Amino acid sequence: MSDKVENPSKYLGNEIDYLRKVLEGESWSATGGSWTNILEREFAKRIGTLYGVGCNSGTSTIHAALEAAGVGPGDEVISPAITVIMNTTATIHANAVPVYADVNAETFNIDAADVKRKITDRTKAIIPVALYGLPPDMDEIMEIAKEHGLVVIEDNAQCVLSTYKGRMAGTIGHMASYSFENTKHISCGEGGMIVTDSEEYAEKARKVAGHGFKNLKASEGRIRLNQDVFQDPDYKRHDVLGWNYRLSEFNAAVALAQLERVETLVDLRVKSAEIFMDVMSGCTYLTPQKVPGDRTNSYYTLGVIYNGGEAIGVSWQDFRKAYIREGGDGIYGAWSVPYLEPMVEQRQFAGRCPWVYKDVGYERGLCPVAESVQPKLMQFKTNYRDIDLAKKKALVLEKVIKKFSG
Ligand SMILES: Cc1ncc(COP(=O)(O)O)c(C=O)c1O
Repeated sequence: MSDKVENPSKYLGNEIDYLRKVLEGESWSATGGSWTNILEREFAKRIGTLYGVGCNSGTSTIHAALEAAGVGPGDEVISPAITVIMNTTATIHANAVPVYADVNAETFNIDAADVKRKITDRTKAIIPVALYGLPPDMDEIMEIAKEHGLVVIEDNAQCVLSTYKGRMAGTIGHMASYSFENTKHISCGEGGMIVTDSEEYAEKARKVAGHGFKNLKASEGRIRLNQDVFQDPDYKRHDVLGWNYRLSEFNAAVALAQLERVETLVDLRVKSAEIFMDVMSGCTYLTPQKVPGDRTNSYYTLGVIYNGGEAIGVSWQDFRKAYIREGGDGIYGAWSVPYLEPMVEQRQFAGRCPWVYKDVGYERGLCPVAESVQPKLMQFKTNYRDIDLAKKKALVLEKVIKKFSG
């Protein structure tokens, strides 16, 4: 099979048909159209929540959710030490203080025991991230949240249709955030969604994400519903500080077409991950992310600990290069621990709200497990739309493993 078929079905659903319908319609914005509304309804239904609020990214979702939760200047928000920078930046966008909890060495997910240790009287929210598609220990997190009156925002940007103790990820926290960015299970280039059962949070998040228009409601993103009221010089429109985080009708239409095939899209990633894990099963220095028996993983990517430096004397980068040389796909490294990124380490945010950040700083050693795991992480691609191609690449990996085993 040729490499040319690598991208055979990304847009084989209704994407083009729906895009044409948006083009032919009157409104290309969620303020007047209905595609974003339909996506919100269908996505929430698929996850199993009452409300969905479409946003233009999986970062604006987190910021809007934090604002909806009442997180503001000086409040502390706990997120894991292995995750993307966006949990940190969204927290800073709310003028709140990022606090980092260490991770479990085998699941790489947030360690509930460390969350407990990091709680202060300023803590307002927790953002457990379902890293690589694996839900964290949500029962423990929810128990801590209940005890301390905290809001939990599941960051499921990488996690679609995974389950935790038989429950759908995204239905456990007070709100959950999704991303439809280019690499995600469901993609429309850029986009995101907040889901929740709370009418209050849905309405607040929608207002934050929609310029604070006062007539926005939990399930209604259109703003000009009653022209006689709206088209009046005396009409006051805004009762909340908002941003423009709206999801456009074009993006919503594409995401809707992808949602219609979400089982297939997730299944392809899970099968691809299983094929790669099969090949790694006898290898002592490649250890895939542990999936506890009470949950499933939707494998945004396959996260693996690489111990080849010690075991076979081959560095992380040399192993990656050998895999590519033999015809494998790139292996991605995990993002740096967020507080070691220059933006955070150098406190570039501090001047934005000096009274909040004057004593805030982070140092190496804060989350020792994350700091030791992160440099060893390899993310193997699971985003194959052709299982034969995944098999072919896994065979390349097998060859490289054999080669280094002598
Ligand atoms: C765990 C996690 N959270 C948040 C985001 C942010 O999503 P977006 O890129 O749509 O802003 C991403 C995506 O990169 C992510 O992987």
